[in-house]
Amino acid sequence: CYTLNFPLQTACSFDRLHEAFRNCQRCQLANTRCKTALWRGDPHAEVLFLGQCPGQVEDTTGLPFVGPSGNLLDLMLREAQFPEIYGISNIVGCSPNTGLANNRDDPTLAECLACSDRLWCLLLTVRPKIIVALGRLPATMFIANNPKAVALNEIIQLGSNHFAQMRHPAYLLRRLGQHSTYELTEAITFLKQLRDQLPDYNRPDHLQYFGEVCPFPPIEAYFNL
Ligand code: URA
Repeated sequence: CYTLNFPLQTACSFDRLHEAFRNCQRCQLANTRCKTALWRGDPHAEVLFLGQCPGQVEDTTGLPFVGPSGNLLDLMLREAQFPEIYGISNIVGCSPNTGLANNRDDPTLAECLACSDRLWCLLLTVRPKIIVALGRLPATMFIANNPKAVALNEIIQLGSNHFAQMRHPAYLLRRLGQHSTYELTEAITFLKQLRDQLPDYNRPDHLQYFGEVCPFPPIEAYFNL
C-alpha cells in the first residue's frame, strides 16, 4: 500500500493546506506549473467534484475548473439548481500541459501518486458526503478494484462513503461540438437527482472505506489498461 509521506495525516484548515501545498515539490510538475490549483468552492462541501488535473487557465489562476470545462460544469450546476454546497478539486494539483516541454493532458501515475497526499488531506479535512468523479481517472482511483464498479450517473455506497461517476465536462464539450446533447442532458438529470437525495446522506464519520492508509493504489489499474 502507498503510505503518506506528508506529516499532515489528519484534518486541518484550508489555510494550512494551501500553505503546505502551494510550493509543493513532490513531482516534476513543480518545474513547469505556474500555480497549484487546490480547491474551489465551499470549504465544508457536502459534494466533492473531482476532476483529473488543471489545464492552462487553472494554472494561471490557481483554481480548479475555471476554463472551458469549468464553465460548462458551472452551467450544468446552475441548470440543476444545485445548492452551493460543493467543492471542486482534481486528482493532480498542478497542470501537466504548461511549460515549453509539456504538451499532454494526462498526468502520469507517478504524478497521481505523488499528489495523493494532498488529496487525502483534503478528504480528511472536508469529509464530503459524496465524491463525484468527473471521468474515468478519478473513478478508477476510488473504485476500479471494487466489484461494485460504479456506473455512469449512479450513486453507490462503499462503507459509509458515497461515490458517483459523471462524464467529464471536457468530454461533454466535445460531444456538444458534434451536436450531441444527449449525455449533457443525462448529466444534468443526474445532478438534479443528487441534489434531491443529498439530505438523506450523512457525512462519513470516518473514511472507513479507505482503511488506515492512503487508499489510492487502484489508480495503477488505470494506467495498466
Ligand atoms: N479538467 C480537469 O480535469 N480539471 C480542471 O481543473 C480543468 C480541466
